Parts: sequence; structure tokens; C-alpha cells
Amino acid sequence: MIRKPFSLGGLTLPSNLFCAPLAGCSDLPFRQMTSRYRPGMIYCEMVKIDALVRHDPHTYRLLDYTKELHPIGAQLCGSKPKLAKEAARILEDLGFDLIDLNCGCPVDKVTKDGSGSGLLRNPAQIGEILSEMIDAVSIPVTVKIRAGWDDGSINAPEIVRIAESAGASALTVHARTREQGYKGPANWDHIRACKQASRNMPIIGNGDVFDAESAEKLFLHSGCDGILVARGTMGQPWIIEDIERHLLGLPKIERTVLDLRRVLLDHFQHITAYQSEKQALLDMRRVGCWYLKPCVGAKQLRMQINQAASLDDVFSLLDAFDWTSIHFSQEASFASTNF
Ligand SMILES: Cc1cc2nc3c(=O)[nH]c(=O)nc-3n(C[C@H](O)[C@H](O)[C@H](O)COP(=O)(O)O)c2cc1C
Repeated sequence: MIRKPFSLGGLTLPSNLFCAPLAGCSDLPFRQMTSRYRPGMIYCEMVKIDALVRHDPHTYRLLDYTKELHPIGAQLCGSKPKLAKEAARILEDLGFDLIDLNCGCPVDKVTKDGSGSGLLRNPAQIGEILSEMIDAVSIPVTVKIRAGWDDGSINAPEIVRIAESAGASALTVHARTREQGYKGPANWDHIRACKQASRNMPIIGNGDVFDAESAEKLFLHSGCDGILVARGTMGQPWIIEDIERHLLGLPKIERTVLDLRRVLLDHFQHITAYQSEKQALLDMRRVGCWYLKPCVGAKQLRMQINQAASLDDVFSLLDAFDWTSIHFSQEASFASTNF
């Protein structure tokens, strides 16, 4: 199950527990928080291949990182093999440790030109894009897919074989179909099927890991080589440490609301250091909601943060709040959130 260290495509990673790419969420402040808990790999938000090769400044900003964040992966989204090659070179030059190809994004805007999960309908093109990327760089190239486009076209095992033949260093499978979006439970049987289809390429399982117990169950169910945690990292950046300790048989760290307060404040501080005041306020509302959602008694604080007019107001609210008046509740946890 847990492998420490974990070797992937010539890299030696701290472990086989990864933090997912999350568009609109896994920005620099977010990654600064998750990286504290020593994941095997953290990913930037996906970037569009076309935008990267035309050197769009906003796209470059999505790729901001500091040297403490290594090992760090970038993820490309697009469908044109030659452009993917160019984009892969740019990412290698930017110092990334690994490049992943997104074949899972379900958004219509992305799939309509055959990108993201649109590629699931054209597995041969996945092989072509991967070959171009692998040819262009010396760092490992991986791919992240879904189980298939819909229940009637599950083709993840076929894509495993194509990716492995193209020379991909690993494949991550999100055990939902494109049709499912983020709804309904992930079906880990698809991860097991991918593991069975792979000759030697590591298979990273993804979907519905929200705590240490579900991570263990996913390993046992599927035999996967590693796990990628996505929504489970939101508001609990320590989840990788929790999973790791559980799998190593170490005592559980009981996270108190005061621990949560400290981590939330640190996250807010990273946000204010990185963003403009206007953007920081927006981000703090969103991020504050993730952290406070599992806390019974914090609804009013959440609402106050949402209405705060300045960064100072947010920090004053956190300062004045009686943290001993709230407690964690499993039922209210982020795991129950639908996207
Ligand atoms: C807000 C959000 C943004 C996401 N952005 C990306 C992305 O940029 N690239 C990607 O491959 N997957 C992305 N995903 C999918 C996740 O990485 C993951 O595959 C999915 O959430 C299933 O895992 P989970 O059940 O552990 O959340 C995103 C998911 C969410 C909820």
C-alpha cells in the first residue's frame, strides 16, 4: 500500500500519496499548504496547451511555484499533438518534475474540441499526444483519465494499454465517467481493471478518498500503486499526513478546532501574500468555507467572512471568534459536498 519512497519514471518521490490538480483551487497558496504535509507529488491547476504556447501571462501565473514545492507536476489540457510537444518543452524549462496530460475534464467548453475527457472518445489520439510529449522532454510524462465517456463506453483499460505502449510513466484513473461529472460514487472496480490491464506502468487510483480509511479501502479494493486525493484536500491539507500515518500504523493525530484555526490563518496569510486585496477577499471566502464547513457552530462566522469588506476585517473576525464554541462534525464534512 504505502510506499515511501515511491519511484516513478526515474523520479524518487516522498510517497505514493498525491495531491490532485484542481482548477480554480490548487493555486500557489493552496499548494503551499498541502506541501507542508509531504505528499508524493502536488499538481498545479491544469493549463490549456494553446494558451501556454502563446505565452499567455495568466496561464503562466497558474504555474507559479517556489522551490520548496518540489516534487511538483504540471498538467496540460488540449488535443493537438504538435502543440502538446511544444507545451511540454516549456514546462520542462520551467523546472517541473513531471507533466501530466488531462483526459478527464468534463466541461463542455473543453470537450467540444476533443480536449479533456473528449480524448476518451479518441484513445489513439491520447497515444499520439503522449508520444509527442515523451519525445520532447526527459522528465516523466503521465496521463489522467476517467473510466470512460459514459457507462456504455468504459474504455479505461484500453487507454492503459495505449498509454503504456506510448511510454507514459504512470496513469491516474478517476473512477467516474464523463457523464457522471462529479456526481454519484466513484466505482473503484474501474481502478482495479486498469491495474489488471497494466503490464508495469503504475496505476494511481482517484475518486472519493476523503480520509485515511477510504484511502486504505481504495488500495485494498483495487491494488493500485498510489492514490491521488482531490476534494479531500480542500480544507484539510493535512489529509496526506493522516493517510500516511494510518497506513504506517502510527497513532492518529487528533485535529482540534484550534489546529484548524492555525492552519486556516496560515492559508489566509499565503493568500494575502500572493493575491491582490480584491482577489484575496474572494479567495478567503471560498477557502474559509472549506475549512469551516465541517464545524458545527461556525455558520455565522462563515457568513461574516463572506460579507467582510477588507482583509483586516477578515483577520479581526478570526481573532475575535470564540473557537472553543465550535466542534467538528463528520456529517457536515466536505466529503458530503456535491460539485
Ligand atoms: C473544483 C475541481 C477542479 C478540478 N480540476 C481538475 C484539473 O485541473 N485537472 C484534473 O485532472 N482534474 C481536476 N479535477 C478532478 C479531480 O482531480 C479528481 O479527479 C476528482 O475530483 C475526483 O476525485 P475526488 O473524488 O477525490 O474529488 C477537478 C475537480 C474539482 C472538484
